[in-house]
Amino acid sequence: MKNIVILISGTGSNMAAIVKTAQREKWAVNCGARVAAVISNKAEARGLKFASDHGIVTEVLDHKAYPSREAFDAALAQVIDRYDSPSQPVLVVLAGFMRILTPGFVSRYAGRLVNIHPSLLPAFAGLHTHQRAMDAGCQVTGATVHLVTAELDHGPILAQAVVPVLPGDTADTLGARVLAQEHLIYPQAIAKLLQRM
Ligand code: GRF
Repeated sequence: MKNIVILISGTGSNMAAIVKTAQREKWAVNCGARVAAVISNKAEARGLKFASDHGIVTEVLDHKAYPSREAFDAALAQVIDRYDSPSQPVLVVLAGFMRILTPGFVSRYAGRLVNIHPSLLPAFAGLHTHQRAMDAGCQVTGATVHLVTAELDHGPILAQAVVPVLPGDTADTLGARVLAQEHLIYPQAIAKLLQRM
């Protein structure tokens, strides 16, 4: 059985979409995988309740309790590695995890560390992607699932969804339409990656 560990910082709607898809599509049988744990760096992350309501182990690791980025990432890796063994490899899924990860952490999970970003990468890495896409006059934007590399919001692309920018859009209305697509492409990209693991 492969163990999926999902890292969140807030709402966790992508995490919820993954959990629901895993149940609906019987990943335990069809992908040999289960969502083993949800870890948040914020105790107040709303997604934690959804996870525990669905019988998933939750952990909180407050980054402010660690003296450095390296110390936090080392502690995080220690928790994640509880779910990692040669017979039960871990897939680490970033789902709105608002932390920049150290190169050491990224290389430890190389090839099995994925992220979703609310733009058509390589355009608009970083924050405020919807406003930036509108300001640039983009007619389409979207979301990208990618393998994580040391460079922020870069790395091999696994899936993308294209979303039109409509007249009268605000960052919020556009963001909501992009998020709905994220909930579709992220679970499917993960299912594909699990088949390759
Ligand atoms: C999503 O837009 C995702 O692309 C970005 O952060 C947001 C997280 O939303 N990385 P949620 O916590 O999954 O609802």
